[in-house]
Amino acid sequence: MNHEMISIPFPENLRKRGFFVLEGIDGSGKSTQFQKLCAWFQSKKLLHTCLIEPKLDGTGKILREKFMDDKQLTAEEELNMILLDRSEDVVQNINPAIEAGKIILMDRYIYSNAVYQGVRLGAAYVLNENIKRQFPFPEKTFLFDLPEEQALERISQRGHAITYFEKISFLTDARKIYLNLIKWDKNIEIINANAPQHMIFEQLQEKMTALLKTQ
Ligand code: TYD
Repeated sequence: MNHEMISIPFPENLRKRGFFVLEGIDGSGKSTQFQKLCAWFQSKKLLHTCLIEPKLDGTGKILREKFMDDKQLTAEEELNMILLDRSEDVVQNINPAIEAGKIILMDRYIYSNAVYQGVRLGAAYVLNENIKRQFPFPEKTFLFDLPEEQALERISQRGHAITYFEKISFLTDARKIYLNLIKWDKNIEIINANAPQHMIFEQLQEKMTALLKTQ
């Protein structure tokens, strides 16, 4: 299922300027760079909003607890809860920030959905559920790419309980779908996550500076 080409067209009408997303498999280091970029926006006094999905409150909080459970949710249950969490996020946080002209930076969004739930349901199906709801799509996505073996090594070094997404077979499927998405959305850029943190940050700062000039 995960080798499929994504047959639906990309919804250019839903793309929003100033909307940036970091994506990647667990252990790719994107959350560290997310924190660094948010602090950098803050120091530059940029009008911005930094958001994480699943959210830390509402449906997202419940979902995060479910992910730690040994008993996996059914694919449909999982998808429905994630879509509900995302509608809350769009209504409460994302759309108001877009309307206020703020820069938005997100740690995971629709492409995490296409990948993580796409492993069981197919990426095109999951993307279509997001498009049907008219959720905004990012101007630019940075995809932190890393071989799954290295990602797993980093995950196991964290020393805390792992979720059912953090198994090697799942990470392998997930990475394949991420790389498939690059052919679907031309504004996804790969970041080599197998580099020192400070080098990745410098690279992101350069890329963001160029993007912010066009806003
Ligand atoms: P996160 O806290 O970002 O994990 P990490 O910091 O390890 O990258 O995300 C928690 C989990 O949520 C992650 O394993 C992927 C999953 N997820 C989905 O399954 N579907 C989604 O749509 C999103 C946004 C996240």
